[in-house]
Amino acid sequence: MTQKKIDRYAVIGNPIAHSKSPLIHTEFAKLTDQALTYTAELVELGQVKNFVSSFANNNGKGLNVTVPFKLDAFELATHLSDRAQRAGAVNTLTLKDNEVFGDTTDGTGLLNDLTKNHQQTLKDKTILILGAGGAVRGVLEPLLLESPTSLVIANRTVSKAQQLADDFSSFGNISACGFEDLNGQQFDIIINGTSASLSGDLPPLPDHLFTKHSCAYDMMYAKEATVFMQWSKQQGAEIILDGLGMLVEQAAESFYIWRGVRPETKSVIEKLRTES
Ligand code: ATR
Repeated sequence: MTQKKIDRYAVIGNPIAHSKSPLIHTEFAKLTDQALTYTAELVELGQVKNFVSSFANNNGKGLNVTVPFKLDAFELATHLSDRAQRAGAVNTLTLKDNEVFGDTTDGTGLLNDLTKNHQQTLKDKTILILGAGGAVRGVLEPLLLESPTSLVIANRTVSKAQQLADDFSSFGNISACGFEDLNGQQFDIIINGTSASLSGDLPPLPDHLFTKHSCAYDMMYAKEATVFMQWSKQQGAEIILDGLGMLVEQAAESFYIWRGVRPETKSVIEKLRTES
């Protein structure tokens, strides 16, 4: 009797040991009663293509892709979703019949965390996003589709913010500036998409950007509050959130793409919060 091989999934990156994705997807599989394995795989630089084809030949059905391989994934995908095309990045590969389907779930992950887990409405709100790298590019489309009054991108290198504003201008009212230009302005929602938190830095932001009902969101998360979160508290933001929910929600969207079922996320977020 031939035994059906179990479907395999993995996250690839370099480094990868810190990844929470195996834990998250293994929980999702339990919650939805899906038979699959999900591991973290360290891939050497320049070896992504080889890894993906050998994984596909060994019952690999899907991959999440993290730093530094998101651009490689974009390039090796044989098909790209519209949102991945516009985001210029891929974090989810689906492997089927010798084809590689690339998609990006980061933006949906952020939106679902803000709107579903934290009941934030974006319609008619003023949004400020700090940073203009790949992480920010990936979330602009779903945020703009919620019809905020305005979305301002502020970045150290203003030309990069301006490029993003130009690329996404057809989706809504989007503009770019430097940090010093924010003086005197206030926003309903401020999202930190810079990688500054990683090194414990804070972009040079003026005071009084928050109203007393504003929401601060750091796309990063760490065991302790990030410097941006600490600063937001001092500045009087009402709601202060980190990126743990985004991490779980982007994983849920990948799981849905692969398995066609949407896992419940609340218990997984709680589990990570208490265990990490
Ligand atoms: P990611 O994929 O995480 O977006 P990235 O493309 O390298 O990484 O982008 C990093 C972002 O964080 C950029 O917007 C960067 O600003 P520059 O475009 O001016 O380089 C921003 N950033 C990183 N460190 C920063 C710091 N200490 N202060 C302010 N912005 C910072």
